[in-house]
Amino acid sequence: MKSIRLLFVIAWAALCGSVASHAAHTFAVADGSLMLDGRPFTVRAAELHYPRIPRPYWEHRIKMCKSLGMNTICLYVFWNLHEPKESQFDFTGQNDVAHFCRLAQKHGMWVIVRPGPYVCAEWEMGGLPWWLLKKHDIGLRQLDPYFMERVRAFEQRVGEQLAPLTIDRGGPIIMVQVENEYGSYGTDKPYVSQIRDIIRQAGFDRVTLFQCDWSTNFENNALPDLLWTMNFGTGSDVDEQFRRLGELRPTAPKMCSEFWSGWFDKWGAQHETRPADDMVAGIDQMLRQGISFSLYMTHGGTSFSHWAGANSPGYAPDVTSYDYDAPINEQGLPTHKYWLLRDVMQHHTTCALPDVPEPAMPIISIPEFRLTEYAPLDAGITSTVKSSPLRTMEELDMGWGSVVYRTSLPDIEEPSTLTVDQCHDYGRVFIDSTLVGTIDRRLGQSAVNLPPCKQGAQLTILVEGMGRINFGRAIADRKGIAGGVGITLANGDHISLTRWDIGLVPDDYECALNALSNADKIISSMGTAGYYRGYFHIDSVGDTFLNTEHFGKGQVYVNGHPLGRFWSIGPQQTLYLPGCWLQKGRNEVIVLDVAGTGHPTLLGQLTPELNRLRTGTGRSHGTGPEARPSMPAAVAQGAIAAGSGWHHVTLPQAAVGRYLAVELTSDDGHCASLAEITAYHSSSDRIMSENWAVRYVSGEDALHGNHTADKAFDLQESTHWSCAQTDATPQLLVIDMGIKQTIASVNLLLPQGHAARYRLFVIE
Ligand code: GLA
Repeated sequence: MKSIRLLFVIAWAALCGSVASHAAHTFAVADGSLMLDGRPFTVRAAELHYPRIPRPYWEHRIKMCKSLGMNTICLYVFWNLHEPKESQFDFTGQNDVAHFCRLAQKHGMWVIVRPGPYVCAEWEMGGLPWWLLKKHDIGLRQLDPYFMERVRAFEQRVGEQLAPLTIDRGGPIIMVQVENEYGSYGTDKPYVSQIRDIIRQAGFDRVTLFQCDWSTNFENNALPDLLWTMNFGTGSDVDEQFRRLGELRPTAPKMCSEFWSGWFDKWGAQHETRPADDMVAGIDQMLRQGISFSLYMTHGGTSFSHWAGANSPGYAPDVTSYDYDAPINEQGLPTHKYWLLRDVMQHHTTCALPDVPEPAMPIISIPEFRLTEYAPLDAGITSTVKSSPLRTMEELDMGWGSVVYRTSLPDIEEPSTLTVDQCHDYGRVFIDSTLVGTIDRRLGQSAVNLPPCKQGAQLTILVEGMGRINFGRAIADRKGIAGGVGITLANGDHISLTRWDIGLVPDDYECALNALSNADKIISSMGTAGYYRGYFHIDSVGDTFLNTEHFGKGQVYVNGHPLGRFWSIGPQQTLYLPGCWLQKGRNEVIVLDVAGTGHPTLLGQLTPELNRLRTGTGRSHGTGPEARPSMPAAVAQGAIAAGSGWHHVTLPQAAVGRYLAVELTSDDGHCASLAEITAYHSSSDRIMSENWAVRYVSGEDALHGNHTADKAFDLQESTHWSCAQTDATPQLLVIDMGIKQTIASVNLLLPQGHAARYRLFVIE
């Protein structure tokens, strides 16, 4: 009888996809399917990131995914979290990824591990450690000997932690990923092959290895011995996404390794959402066809501390919240998307889904309170060096924070212009303690007007570093001032400034405490920028959302926990403060504000504010008729049919110019939209678009889904430029490539299901 019951439990577990025991199972690709213990298995994975969830809530979030009908947790391993300094590894506490996997197993979930080394993920430098940048000529994500040596050392440590947890050894790990979307970085099979070998040698030699990419570029780096999976988002045509894979490997199992439930937000840009119905329809279609998937993100959580990255082309720093418009919101509660999806998931299984767990914490509010203690930012300078050339943060061996650059000016009688080349990322310029201007890298700024100055006047440039770029070719993103600083006089003469005193202000709680204890001895030279400390009292702990609207820009620490960056421009105006970091009674808050405030108050509110921009509609591009450049004759024209993928246009003869323009006419009722445009010098030599900017656009919809014109060259196929439904076509987009380029061909990609006629122009 006992054994019959046991057999029943095992059969039920196999059917419902739960991990029956710690006994070894098998997982393999066979007969065109993913096979678990010899039977076809559909992966229904929930992507969760352990550092984006406070450890006390890990189990709750895993249970939430289980109740949604998921059978697997998919996670990245974040190299820069685990190796904060070269050769110093940390897999403990909040970083204990093996414990996270064991918790998943405890709740009957399988695990997919994605150990990078690069992960993207809107995470600082895509997971790569900043200290790699101390090597001036480092080649990231390529066969640079030092980079590869450090990758090997890291993956070995990952192997020590996680290889004992692969499925063949009785653990939950069924699949391990090699690199991450390498196709959107380059073409380099030798590099990707070495990463595969390093991962195998780290102990993942008996588990299924896979590669993920986009359907349009996966062939570039596809290795014959790995499983190929596709990444795409809500609203995509699922069949179209697997079409090319089906042609190349007709019997291969299909898996969408990242199905984007929503999208991430950037400072100064509209809040992003994706329709719940579309997301659920995509999952429903995949389940009907037995296609495996991982829902990225099922719960996004928070990029606490300084872990938020930045997007590129251009510089678009990500906000702290990684809510992602995901089914489980930032504080771990089910949303409308969650309930809709749960119904569909239930429909596709004969097993009753477990009840949805109660929230891990109640939500509380905290009445407004004042932060009465203050130390000027100057008190946070931990060390100063003298240097004739400028130095970056990395050269001075600091990972995160601000750098204060100071020098004495010569006599300048007329107003002049200060140019700060590569000010990364937010600069405030003072002359003798008076603020004369700001430099915002996001907006492509690099200059400030200076008033006349007396010989010996002190120039101070405070540069706050934000997240390092995590996407595209610009990931070697050094902080502080990475170029030169000079003054252009009224008569056109140029003075290059040297002999700097460079001070470091780390983004670090201990340094903040130190600054506050030194406050009395220091005089402010940078306005009200500095450290503000206050306390609030609570009777019972709970999650809350700290409203930072009265502060300018910086970082918040509560009881020593860094909550993440805030910036008054929005769209995020509150920081998630997990109750597990609070205590009954008195709690300490320190705000490090590099911009300063005259009203240092905070309050805790019951709901987040992720959607309040204080800079108008986000990125504003030249849209008035006066900004429209006069157009020469078109260099090419044609039509693009719906569903035809990338459209290649070879120009009859190469055209030279600084501006590339595309005019779109839509005949199918859609407003003109463009997912991507790329240009080539020759058939294979792509013109880098890292510094492209919008010169002019006739219409853009920044209110219904953030379809600003820069989305046409953000190298993300799932986002697109679109005019508003009310705008007439044709629509014109003029791109400033920064310098003159010789263009031989252009590739255009329309959003899924769109058709259009186009004309291309190259303007001097
Ligand atoms: C890609 C990356 C992910 C993440 C998403 C966007 O798919 O692989 O890490 O950056 O884009 O959220």
